[in-house]
Amino acid sequence: MIRKMKSKKLKRWGTICVAALTAGALLCSCGSQQFVAKNKIHVGVTYYNQSDTFLNELLECFVEDLKDSGKDAVETTVTIRDAAGSQRTQNDQVKELIDAGCDVLCVNLVDRADPSEIIDLARECDVPIVFFNREPVAEDLLQWDKLYYVGADAEQSGILQGELASDLIKQDGSTDRNGDGKIQYVILEGEAGHQDAIIRTENAVETMKNNGVELEKLSYQIANWNRAQAQNRMQQMIGQYGDGIELVLANNDDMALGAVDAYEKSELSEEDYPVFFGIDGTDVGVQAVADGAFAGTVYNDKEGQAEAMAELAVVLATGDGLQNLEFERGKYIYLPYEKITRENVSTFFKAAVPGE
Ligand code: BGC
Ligand code: CA
Repeated sequence: MIRKMKSKKLKRWGTICVAALTAGALLCSCGSQQFVAKNKIHVGVTYYNQSDTFLNELLECFVEDLKDSGKDAVETTVTIRDAAGSQRTQNDQVKELIDAGCDVLCVNLVDRADPSEIIDLARECDVPIVFFNREPVAEDLLQWDKLYYVGADAEQSGILQGELASDLIKQDGSTDRNGDGKIQYVILEGEAGHQDAIIRTENAVETMKNNGVELEKLSYQIANWNRAQAQNRMQQMIGQYGDGIELVLANNDDMALGAVDAYEKSELSEEDYPVFFGIDGTDVGVQAVADGAFAGTVYNDKEGQAEAMAELAVVLATGDGLQNLEFERGKYIYLPYEKITRENVSTFFKAAVPGE
């Protein structure tokens, strides 16, 4: 077993070793990107975990967008790698992608605080990087001028979720099921250290308070963006608070769905359920709003982000058209969030199908 793995690994790194030997101290072989004709580009993508619903949908759009850009006389190929939650694996994947001749990299960091090795590898071989969804800290993005970020503003998503919840609570007195004038709530939070976790929570709660909603926090649990983990955490909270929870705020749709799963598996009847709010508007999230399982969610514009990434990747790889793109602080593209409610949900079904 060990032997097998060893020989596979050796094979994989064979070309790199030869190049490194001939070039002396070079860390990577720098692929062949300098010699690739500008109308043919190879895009390398690595993302933190292939079990992530939002990112899978975003990348599906991205691949479509790259195909479309192919119609404008640029032929694109794309290689996508799953880092399976390991920064070390992701660093190796970046080496491989560069060695395979990628002209540009799109990187969804495993650890957003640890991009230095990837940046060094890319700079060494002059391969620009578009980071996406997991935002590196500002200082890291300043390490080199060919580093960019495409994503969305976490604060805005929290504010919109807070507004959705406040509107409902004000319109519908039955949300306060025990009639004590306060909303008993729990939070399901994304990964610790992710820019979209704490900021969403803080802004959602703050917005509700600013809108005059009396709140009582019962509990908060981290469920790492994951539906099964959220179901598990929610089961524990139902065990503790029974029918006493009136509102579930989740940092993303998958965790809100996990919470709904927990209630469906519980002994409680539907009139004892809280109201649920997510963020993302993934296909399943949009469906949950349409079905009434969620009171609302906030659209994290995967189509817009994918399109911006594809456009930027092509521009960086061909070296043509950077001046036509608009950036914040010279390096950032943020796509706005939108509220999804029962009233407008039908318009998001369309958006959920790439290419339509
Ligand atoms: C999304 C989550 C996703 C996470 C991954 C967030 O912006 O809302 O659904 O799991 O990014 O990094
Ligand atoms: Ca109450």
